[in-house]
Amino acid sequence: MSTFQAPKGTYDLLPPDSAKYLAVREAIAAPLRNSGYGYIETPGFESVELFARGVGESTDIVSKEMYAFETKGGTKLALRPEGTASVLRAALEANLHKVGNLPVKLWYSGSYYRYERPQKGRYRHFSQVGAEAIGAEDPALDAELIILADQAYRTLGLRNFRILLNSLGDKECRPVYRAALQDFLRGLDLDEDTLRRAEINPLRVLDDKRESVQKQLGDAPLLRDYLCDACKAYHEEVRELITAASVAFEDDPKLVRGLDYYTRTTFEFVHDGLGSQSAVGGGGRYDGLSEMIGGPALPSVGWALGVDRTVLALEAEGVELELPAATSVYAVPLGDEARRVLFAKVTELRKLGVAADFSYGAKGLKGAMKNANRSGARYAVVAGERDLAEGVVQLKDMVSGEQTAIGVNEIVAELESRLG
Ligand code: HAM
Repeated sequence: MSTFQAPKGTYDLLPPDSAKYLAVREAIAAPLRNSGYGYIETPGFESVELFARGVGESTDIVSKEMYAFETKGGTKLALRPEGTASVLRAALEANLHKVGNLPVKLWYSGSYYRYERPQKGRYRHFSQVGAEAIGAEDPALDAELIILADQAYRTLGLRNFRILLNSLGDKECRPVYRAALQDFLRGLDLDEDTLRRAEINPLRVLDDKRESVQKQLGDAPLLRDYLCDACKAYHEEVRELITAASVAFEDDPKLVRGLDYYTRTTFEFVHDGLGSQSAVGGGGRYDGLSEMIGGPALPSVGWALGVDRTVLALEAEGVELELPAATSVYAVPLGDEARRVLFAKVTELRKLGVAADFSYGAKGLKGAMKNANRSGARYAVVAGERDLAEGVVQLKDMVSGEQTAIGVNEIVAELESRLG
């Protein structure tokens, strides 16, 4: 061990487990690529102000969890706690909404940072794959995103997840509801902090997990009963479209999200095998965010799925992903001539797309075969001076243990045909 360790709340992805993370990212990205979403990458840090305005000054993410710092030049930056504000900032900066068709559909994959209290499933550095559809108000777009996330989870083999769906209304009906909720909260027996939160962001109080708070919220007014006709009709169409696609969901009139930019459709994907950190993904519509960060009106919708928690959910369900073999062929040369010959064969195999590795560092047969075993290779190719003098190499089937002499010039074709 070195003097150093990974910082608190972070962990390293190491083989062989790291292959699962790659597979999860790929499984989430594949349906997006197939549905008109283009790949976007943005910097790992942005102006603090972008998140303060976008995600919301009063949210935990901005007020408590942001890695904010000042550069030597005096610029205030923050490591990105989420992707939506950055992606929208980038799209506006490049005028994607003017040069292309609307909606602009983008997907991304990367690391995010939140200074949270670490526990299983909650880290200070985590990874998301996300999608944003910018510049269109169409229930089919909300439905598309929910259907694609469902498809991603299902292709991974995940079963015990649920989709919670709600509408948070719009700038017409939400303020009326907000006032009604505030009136209700003021009449409860709440501590000072919570009462303060009720004044700044009353919807967040609904999300308070404490038993003492929850038991007083039974009669709280529900946004569902305050939705204006336009929001109601919009939400009904989203529900119909998802239902028609045979994607099961649950209406959750109390679902609020930890970011302030949401309007109308909001949803969360929860997994029942994960304990308290049960949200494997979430998202919704954010029709006002563009204006909040200085852009034009651009109604948009998106989601982000947590890669770390998706891997935990797969483990909780005991799903074994079908991962491609890291190594199919392992070459073991005994002597200098064999090194030259087998190194060339490995290079040739790799060019043909066969996963091949080589015993480096002049090991003896025993040590090299141990490595061949550990590599998980299906075949080992062993050659010594005597084999080469006879024009052959030894092909060992690592499963049956059977060993066959094959001509040096035939070995590549033989392996290709055996590996299909
Ligand atoms: P979020 O709900 O904050 O939404 O995060 C999405 C997902 O990221 C969560 O459901 C969870 O799986 C994962 N996640 C969040 N925080 C952590 C953490 N500390 N440790 C491990 N995993 C975590 C957003 O970030 C929005 N930008 C989603 C969105 C996109 N809305 C519209 N477009």
